[in-house]
Amino acid sequence: MDLLAPAPGECFLDGTAGAGGHSEAIAQRIGPGGVLVSADGDPSMLRIAAARLAPYPWVRMVHADFSDLDRLCEAADGRPFDGVLLDLGISSVQLDDPERGFTFREDGPLDMRRDTGSDDATAADIVRYTRENELADIIYQFGEERFSRRIAARIVEQRRSTPIETTGQLARLVSSAIPRKGWPRDIHPATRTFQALRIAVNRELESIAAFLERIPGHLAPGGRVGVISFHSLEDRLVKVAFRSAAAGDEATLKVVTKKPVGPGNEETRENPRARSARFRVARRID
Ligand SMILES: C[S@@+](CC[C@H](N)C(=O)[O-])C[C@H]1O[C@@H](n2cnc3c(N)ncnc32)[C@H](O)[C@@H]1O
Repeated sequence: MDLLAPAPGECFLDGTAGAGGHSEAIAQRIGPGGVLVSADGDPSMLRIAAARLAPYPWVRMVHADFSDLDRLCEAADGRPFDGVLLDLGISSVQLDDPERGFTFREDGPLDMRRDTGSDDATAADIVRYTRENELADIIYQFGEERFSRRIAARIVEQRRSTPIETTGQLARLVSSAIPRKGWPRDIHPATRTFQALRIAVNRELESIAAFLERIPGHLAPGGRVGVISFHSLEDRLVKVAFRSAAAGDEATLKVVTKKPVGPGNEETRENPRARSARFRVARRID
């Protein structure tokens, strides 16, 4: 909040409403004279956020992808934003629900779609229909998993006899494809493969890239944009986009955080999932 500095009467966008924690903090600061557009691509999260934000009638809830900036700006009556926040990835509510298929800790359907009401392919569809080479590329690029080829080969071998439809099945299969001495020390061996599938299912990097390209045009002079990312693929996109928008004579942004801001010790102790968070902020040049 210090870096985004929401002030009374300002117009803000929270592109990742989640359970509404950040939106509530912003809504309190901009007050009844301001406008906050609070968006999420997952209708079930939007309902949770809407309940929390009910006491702040200046908040407008929108079911949308955060890259759909024209629609989000329309929800603010066409006003450019004084501040924009993205807190990427999925929330604990989504992660901890085995029915959503994001977690390997409990067995559930291999879904992973942000919006379970959409017609998009699920993780089970990707695992079932994608060619071996392409599957290996997804796991390598989006999961940064060095055993991607072995994992893809094992998936293809397995699916010939039995469809892979649950998170438990996939987690066991991935673990068995990675040699014991290659298992990561502090995370489950299937973590990277699950991350890769989630990114592929929801086309996460495409949304982030589209958002970053368009956001300077939707900021008011002096407007701030902040992005919290949770892994290096996301953080790299943000870093490169901010730097390139801040370079040259036609620069539109100024980078506010020279280095990304991470959580303090106390925050990590209270919420270990925050440990890999990196926050970068830039400001629209007048
Ligand atoms: C880490 S959570 C946000 C938590 C939130 N800041 C809070 O205070 O509770 C990320 C949220 O963003 C949503 N999300 C992720 N990518 C999105 C996208 N491209 N468009 C819209 N919503 C997205 C997810 O559905 C999830 O609810």
